[in-house]
Amino acid sequence: MKPQNCLILALFLQVLVLLNLSVGVLSADNNNYTRNDFPVDFIFGSGTSAYQVEGAANEDGRAPSIWDTFAYAGFAHGENGDIACDSYHKYKEDVKLMVETGLDAYRFSISWSRLIPNGIGPVNPKGLQYYNNLINELVRNGIELHVTLHNYDLPQALEDEYAGWLSRDVIKDFTNYADVCFREFGDRVKYWTTVNEPNIFAVGSYDQGLSPPRRCSPPFCVINSTKGNSTIEPYLVGHHILLAHSSAVRLYRRKYKEEQHGFVGTSLYTFGLVPQTNTEKDKAACQRIRDFYLGWIMEPLLHGDYPNSMKESAGARIPAFTSRESEQVKGSYDFIGIIHYSSFNVTDNSDALKTKLRDFSADTAAHLSIEGLLTAEEYPVTPWALQEVLDTFKIHYGNPPIFIHENGQRTASNSSLHDVSRVKYLHAYIGSVLDSLRNGSNIKGYFVWSFIDVFELLDAYDSSFGLYYVDRNDPELRRYPKLSAKWYNQFLKGTRSSLIAAIELKNDSSLVSVGHLFQ
Ligand SMILES: *[C@@H]1O[C@H](CO)[C@@H](O)[C@H](O)[C@H]1NC(C)=O
Ligand SMILES: *[C@@H]1O[C@H](CO)[C@@H](O)[C@H](O)[C@H]1NC(C)=O
Ligand SMILES: *[C@@H]1O[C@H](CO)[C@@H](O)[C@H](O)[C@H]1NC(C)=O
Ligand SMILES: *[C@@H]1O[C@H](CO)[C@@H](O)[C@H](O)[C@H]1NC(C)=O
Ligand SMILES: *[C@@H]1O[C@H](CO)[C@@H](O)[C@H](O)[C@H]1NC(C)=O
Ligand SMILES: *[C@@H]1O[C@H](CO)[C@@H](O)[C@H](O)[C@H]1NC(C)=O
Ligand SMILES: *[C@@H]1O[C@H](CO)[C@@H](O)[C@H](O)[C@H]1NC(C)=O
Repeated sequence: MKPQNCLILALFLQVLVLLNLSVGVLSADNNNYTRNDFPVDFIFGSGTSAYQVEGAANEDGRAPSIWDTFAYAGFAHGENGDIACDSYHKYKEDVKLMVETGLDAYRFSISWSRLIPNGIGPVNPKGLQYYNNLINELVRNGIELHVTLHNYDLPQALEDEYAGWLSRDVIKDFTNYADVCFREFGDRVKYWTTVNEPNIFAVGSYDQGLSPPRRCSPPFCVINSTKGNSTIEPYLVGHHILLAHSSAVRLYRRKYKEEQHGFVGTSLYTFGLVPQTNTEKDKAACQRIRDFYLGWIMEPLLHGDYPNSMKESAGARIPAFTSRESEQVKGSYDFIGIIHYSSFNVTDNSDALKTKLRDFSADTAAHLSIEGLLTAEEYPVTPWALQEVLDTFKIHYGNPPIFIHENGQRTASNSSLHDVSRVKYLHAYIGSVLDSLRNGSNIKGYFVWSFIDVFELLDAYDSSFGLYYVDRNDPELRRYPKLSAKWYNQFLKGTRSSLIAAIELKNDSSLVSVGHLFQ
């Protein structure tokens, strides 16, 4: 490069830095932007997942998944996804709503046990037909597809046969399932997520026992359970997911990439980390939490091995990669999906390391204040936490291409169609995504969780995140736009998103007219 060009480049960079600073200050107290402030190829969407919306759980040859079993055993407030939102039958209506909302993209998941009821063996033709119908309807309407292969719903048959994710057998079976999906749908699907939030699935389901298949061992259980081993299973499951994920990615690259030109990634559950006190101890605890929840997956993807802090703490309880596995895992992603809702306080808990019997949480030697989140009726608005997460990926994890695959606010499901708090939440978080983009994060898209009110993992139908309300007292399960759907639509049309404009929408007559739903 000529010295003159260097000078121009240096000046250019300086201008960028100045711009960044002023943007940061402006957005911090103003939060005023439009969709046109985002890159032209930035996509905005919304999402759901199979068991949470499809219903038809026992129809057309679908077999149960571990989530069906969890719900039937009464752990989802006594509710289940047998009917859910009946999207299996109402998918055309849902796609129409997506078009009306102005979505660029829709994120959904495939039910493995609908497509291949026993997990292995023959494909269910009716399941294949359903996903082809849904995909074609989306394509016809110009909506881009982001498809997840596993969302807490391993076929129960594989859980029964070899304890599911605890067995290495799952690697081969997951790869074969992915092969079927790539082969059947890959001509139309360009974005594939293998396993949704493996970090929280492994900890929530195998350390605390909160989510399916609900395994844990005393004294670490949050629930009563008779099966599981919290000291080793979360690590084993994390390991098998990394191997299954990377095996599917390798298959895609070898067999499909050249023809289909798609991208394969995984997603991670993320949260802001606030040291409870300003001490070095609590700050170091935050670093360990980052290693355990993000480095656990990201460091193998980047470097082929687990973070040192995890290996030191867990010792022989965390599996080792063979050199072949390490090579396979390294680089096995085209993008990372970020799932983000909130932030947690972190306190040092080094004393936990003095105990011989330790689970994943004790190994972190830190205490995470998740209790508030589990009980909060309405998630607080802390957009700086998402920025912090995006900065972490930029600085520590190689600034990968990122889709914010889930972000949204939980409220009580019967709160109101006038969900001003959700509008404030989305407005603030999308603003923080813009700030992070301008500060150099490699973000490609943003998806509101959730498109309609769905069957939630822990709260069933008692909490809601949806842009659309689903009237569960109506046999037709009619959908109604909330204020947030109207606001998102306005934003996607290019209207400047200021809170004032959003709250003016509050008097929209179509919202008022369905106010009786909440009486
Ligand atoms: C938002 O910014 C635009 C352009 O910068 C400005 O014209 C408008 O007055 C601002 N609106 C609010 C509500 O701050
Ligand atoms: C666990 O079981 C014990 C004894 O049956 C019971 O007292 C306790 O309430 C149960 N705890 C939970 C969280 O279900
Ligand atoms: C968990 O596994 C470890 C290692 O195999 C074993 O030592 C321990 O006894 C197991 N704990 C339970 C509760 O089964
Ligand atoms: C974190 O700590 C602050 C200050 O002590 C408190 O106000 C807040 O509720 C805590 N957040 C959570 C999620 O526990
Ligand atoms: C929502 O449901 C809860 C729990 O059933 C109830 O306490 C509350 O009064 C309801 N709120 C409205 C606005 O109906
Ligand atoms: C921008 O990124 C730098 C690191 O690249 C970070 O130190 C800074 O806090 C970020 N600024 C904002 C406003 O996020
Ligand atoms: C909305 O309607 C209420 C009552 O009808 C009225 O008092 C209020 O001024 C209206 N707000 C806006 C922003 O139009």
